[in-house]
Amino acid sequence: MDKAQQDAMKKEAGIAAAQLVKDGMVAGLGTGSTVKFLVDELGRRVKEEGLEFTGVTTSRRTQEQAEGYGIKIVDIDDVDRIDLTIDGADEVDANFNGIKGGGAALLWEKIVAVNSDKIVWIVDSSKVVDVIGKFPLPVEVIPFGWSHVFKRFEERGYKPVLRLEADGEPVRTDERNYVIDLHLERIDNPQELAEDLINTVGVVEHGLFLNMVNEVIVGDPEGPRVLV
Ligand code: 5RP
Repeated sequence: MDKAQQDAMKKEAGIAAAQLVKDGMVAGLGTGSTVKFLVDELGRRVKEEGLEFTGVTTSRRTQEQAEGYGIKIVDIDDVDRIDLTIDGADEVDANFNGIKGGGAALLWEKIVAVNSDKIVWIVDSSKVVDVIGKFPLPVEVIPFGWSHVFKRFEERGYKPVLRLEADGEPVRTDERNYVIDLHLERIDNPQELAEDLINTVGVVEHGLFLNMVNEVIVGDPEGPRVLV
């Protein structure tokens, strides 16, 4: 699949998911190139159909895009609950275990997710896999003492790589933390790994989203299909 085909499938999934947002909802808006298509479509619906909803975003990038369309965005602490969150993912398996954080927004994404009544992921078909882990697993770490966390990951055989910007500086998340990507190739026991990571001092959050999602909309050459 080339990039143009992949983008077409992302767009298809984003447009389909935008139909799930209804008047009066508080909707969580994820991050990434697939979500960008979702927000474009929501912007269109706001302008052309008069859709009125309130958004909570999982990154400053998404906030800027949504506000550019006149979508009302509020702070997560200003709402009691999020009705529905629509987000992208880097990989998802048949049990809805997934990897997120390719766009370094995993911490806010997980906070928004756990405060949502319903979670829908939008992906192109290349992201539906038998076993997760081919995509490097992002782990958000505090900058203070990060190299010690990194060494610990090396000792455990996690094959860590500190994520860098083009200028060689560490990527910073919206919370100014670093991201270490674990090149595991396959994750056979995601629950065990998740516990190990979250119990490592210095780790803020990891990109394993286990059994949290209710529905996955997959962009496919034959049209979007919904996994439930
Ligand atoms: C950002 C994410 C994204 O949702 C994930 O990386 C998918 O991105 P894209 O839609 O660009 O493929 O988790 O932290």
